[in-house]
Amino acid sequence: MSTYGTFPGARPRRLRTTPAMRRMVAETRLHPAELILPAFVREGIGEPVPISAMPGVVQHTRDTLRKAAVEAREAGVAGIMLFGVPEDAKKDAAGTAGTDPDGILQVAIRDVRAEVGDELVIMSDLCLDEYTDHGHCGVLDSEGRVDNDATLERYAEMAQVQADAGVHVVGPSGMMDGQVGVIRDALDQTGHEDVSVLAYTAKYASAFYGPFREAVGSSLQGDRKTYQQDPANVRESLRELSLDLAEGADMVMVKPALPYLDILAKVAESVDVPVAAYQISGEYAMVEAAAANGWIDRDRAIMESLTGIKRAGANMILTYWATEVARQL
Ligand code: PBG
Repeated sequence: MSTYGTFPGARPRRLRTTPAMRRMVAETRLHPAELILPAFVREGIGEPVPISAMPGVVQHTRDTLRKAAVEAREAGVAGIMLFGVPEDAKKDAAGTAGTDPDGILQVAIRDVRAEVGDELVIMSDLCLDEYTDHGHCGVLDSEGRVDNDATLERYAEMAQVQADAGVHVVGPSGMMDGQVGVIRDALDQTGHEDVSVLAYTAKYASAFYGPFREAVGSSLQGDRKTYQQDPANVRESLRELSLDLAEGADMVMVKPALPYLDILAKVAESVDVPVAAYQISGEYAMVEAAAANGWIDRDRAIMESLTGIKRAGANMILTYWATEVARQL
């Protein structure tokens, strides 16, 4: 028999013949217990407010946030990442509402903790941009630059009030140098040794955060390029990673997810702590917008993007589709 008679000698397609076969040989599986739902709660509203750039996502009232937390738990979702949206009149240069024990985020943490206790991992964004009138992630110096070390003092206070309110995990997302260490110290010195730090380790200055500005009502002037990372860089992420680990990060995160899967894979290879990826507002909006136009199959695109993020090495994925996807799994 000629070589060509039996060609091709290897037939990878055999393992793709039936759904059962494909399921059996799948190397990556999604599970609800690795999904985290980011959620926005806005002060002073009677009804949830839709976010037009994120169809299907709302700014919650305190009440509907509690319900969303219960639904997430019932679907088997791992946790919830809370973002507070204060009344406009409460925004100021120092982001005072972010450290007010009765500020919206702290109130929401207490609400959710009372509602679901320890059955969801309750996380909070630890950053000033939701509370500052200029929209930057820190306080400004006399020349209008984000002042790293003055911001760290604010972050230490934020860590304490969020922990006092009952959060399990704080998520510093401001990309200030030394933030993880300062927050760890602040937690330890205030009796919150058991509160974990999920460090936004590799956080890029991304155009894909666009819809988030509407979600938190931010009126950012300028951009975040002096503190968030340049999309061109890889080694910089590994440097941020070693610093965060040395400062005491319990978990690390890469953000955004899809345009940075190479970073995610490198980070996942080089650490011995859990790695999260954040599928951000713009990633959500792209899929929803294309699907609304009939240009892509929404459900398949969602599952494919999440599978890709998991395959690249994420142990946890923050996604606005968390509850919906968890129900389907
Ligand atoms: C900062 C923060 C941002 C996001 C999460 N935390 C915005 C930013 O850094 O500009 C973005 C999340 C998303 O786009 O879904 N508080």
